[in-house]
Amino acid sequence: MYKLKAIANDIFYVGVNDRQKALFENMWPLPYGISYNSYLIVGEKSVLVDTVDVCFSDIFLRKIQDKLQERPLDYLIVNHMEPDHAGSIRLLRQLYPQVQIIGNKRTFDMLDGFYGIKTGLVEVKDGDMLEIGQHKLDFYLAPMVHWPEVMMTYEETNKILFSADAFGTYGTLDGGILETELNLEHFWDEMKRYYSNIVGKYGNPVQRILQKLSALDIQVICSTHGPVWTEHIRDVVGIYDKLSRYEGEDGVVIIYGSMYGNTEQMAETIAASLADNGVKNIIMHNVSKSDASYVLRDLFKYKAVIIGSPTYCNQLYPEIDSILQKIEVREVKNRLFAYFGSFSWAGAAVKRLAAFGEKMQWTVVGEPVESKQALKADKYDACWDLGKSMAEKLAEK
Ligand code: FEO
Repeated sequence: MYKLKAIANDIFYVGVNDRQKALFENMWPLPYGISYNSYLIVGEKSVLVDTVDVCFSDIFLRKIQDKLQERPLDYLIVNHMEPDHAGSIRLLRQLYPQVQIIGNKRTFDMLDGFYGIKTGLVEVKDGDMLEIGQHKLDFYLAPMVHWPEVMMTYEETNKILFSADAFGTYGTLDGGILETELNLEHFWDEMKRYYSNIVGKYGNPVQRILQKLSALDIQVICSTHGPVWTEHIRDVVGIYDKLSRYEGEDGVVIIYGSMYGNTEQMAETIAASLADNGVKNIIMHNVSKSDASYVLRDLFKYKAVIIGSPTYCNQLYPEIDSILQKIEVREVKNRLFAYFGSFSWAGAAVKRLAAFGEKMQWTVVGEPVESKQALKADKYDACWDLGKSMAEKLAEK
């Protein structure tokens, strides 16, 4: 019944779209939904690459059964054990008890831990090749992209890389599966948001796998999320390369909190000065309104960041504290940094922002500004100067 999309002659897309969840990992908003991708190779032997979130197992298993009919499923390759992909393994095993599960040592520890599966396992190591029917499959371990058991599978005949989460993005596949069938407009920013939210901490492991993959001739990338890439492979790899090197584009992200608008006036002044001094990309995030996932995306995207906070209970404003913690976890490197803050009777925010910048080993630009109560002329001018200093620093090549 199903007209499954063929990725190659005998390789079919059997993934699903999730337009139901509001939050991925119960944290990150999904305005465009998300897809859980899975691929079925139907040659002399049948091989499934990854499964899907258990909430969608019914439709997923129907597609597989429809394609295989009376044939058994011979193998399941588990590139990643996070439950958005591994969630249907237990049910798949019930339906196909003889299926052999291909993974690495760490995969099997998790397979037992999450689903109590200990038998019918085929262990592979980094660089191993398995010949299954007419397909030669090479396995590349990609530890900490972004879990320890992650691996990628390269299919030699069609030069397809099954890349687990790498090169993935938020966003459902609305009708089309290949990137050539889709309007890609929103996917580029969603890919950056996905990277910064999910993979962001693991820049070095991403660099290591990119190095490993650079020797391969890759014609198709089949990630576990988002479009199948055929024509934009260079762009997609370039985005992951740039983000994992923490290389920002020209532009400034202003991240601020404000209870009654006084710190916000400082942010507005700095932004106006940046613009007046020639900066085009200025992104402002009021942390009480902007979701952290977008703040992180823009922090990864641009090379300069300016953070402002009121003093609250002799600390940073709590929402600023929260975003700083998320930034610190991701070990974001090489940023130009300026900061400012306000207080009503005793200042603490500015010195805490100074300590944060030092901890991150960011390059401090300009003189920090600390304002008491409403913004006065001298502090207005200091904010203007701060924006000007950052604009000048960005203009240096
Ligand atoms: Fe899409 Fe790390 O799971």
